[in-house]
Amino acid sequence: MKVVILGASGLVGGNFLKKFKELKGVEVIGTHLNFATKETVKFNTMDLDDTANFDIKGFQPDVIVHCGALTWVDYCEQHPEESYEKTVASTENVVQLAEEFNAKLVYISSDYVFDGKNGPYVETDPVNPKSIYGKHKLAAEEIVKSSNVNHLILRITNVYGDEIRNKNFIARLLTDIQNGEQKTLKLPFDQYATPVNAFDVAQAGALLLEYDKTGVYHIASTDFMNRVQLARRVLDFYDYRKIKIEPLSTKAINPPAERPLRGGMISERLLREFPAFTFTNVNDYLNLVN
Ligand SMILES: NC(=O)c1ccc[n+]([C@@H]2O[C@H](COP(=O)([O-])OP(=O)(O)OC[C@H]3O[C@@H](n4cnc5c(N)ncnc54)[C@H](OP(=O)(O)O)[C@@H]3O)[C@@H](O)[C@H]2O)c1
Repeated sequence: MKVVILGASGLVGGNFLKKFKELKGVEVIGTHLNFATKETVKFNTMDLDDTANFDIKGFQPDVIVHCGALTWVDYCEQHPEESYEKTVASTENVVQLAEEFNAKLVYISSDYVFDGKNGPYVETDPVNPKSIYGKHKLAAEEIVKSSNVNHLILRITNVYGDEIRNKNFIARLLTDIQNGEQKTLKLPFDQYATPVNAFDVAQAGALLLEYDKTGVYHIASTDFMNRVQLARRVLDFYDYRKIKIEPLSTKAINPPAERPLRGGMISERLLREFPAFTFTNVNDYLNLVN
């Protein structure tokens, strides 16, 4: 099986690349957009004719995992056109590629397709995105769903894990602790979600592909917590007292993009179909990296 991971210089794509490299009988290529890594080749999904692009035609993938998107939620709110290009238009192009190669498409989506009034959400709950980022993730989902492409849509949220740029929330906290940082973090106490390890997302994705599953799956672990609780979980694990937390309401923080407050998801479908699948949680990760 030949697999292309688009956006493999990022957190989720990097973990998909790691997972697929472990699998026998799989030939895998990971791509970056601007952040070149030792493990990736360039592929610009916004311009399929870019001469710098990896020769995907020559490779003829059987599976394309599309992890490329503009993921900075507040930036998307203030730059909707760029967000549209990087998240929606790029997905139109990826669908075109999947059609051309008759490849299966795995699209990575988000709990931001929900309004956050009554999460955690199952797959059948109605969507109602509130931010530009959430609207564009949903628009990309719709493009995938309405195509003729065999597809999987994996919705995830609050992802952490090993990452080359160490930019996820837990990774940044771990770096601060290592550097002996002293500061106060202003964090919302009212934004709830289900943090998940990117490697578990990749494991679930690989399993669903193995069984040729299709449609929407929520990929969420057993943790359900707000940002203050998540930060405390990490700081308490190391008994680190130099970083203080100032809990604030989202209203007081007033971010440019509206956040789903009671967000997060339940892996209802995955765990019904694969009851033996086991998610790790934040504590497992902290024990692992400690
Ligand atoms: N992290 C989360 O908590 C979270 C939560 C919900 C959903 N998701 C979704 O999961 C996916 C991956 O997120 P992530 O956290 O891994 O993001 P990330 O670390 O920011 O990585 C994004 C990746 O996409 C690439 N990229 C950006 N725009 C692209 C485009 N138009 N064409 C091709 N590649 C493009 C980036 O390339 P360069 O960096 O090389 O430029 C990078 O490799 C995204 O679809 C995101 O919406 C993430």
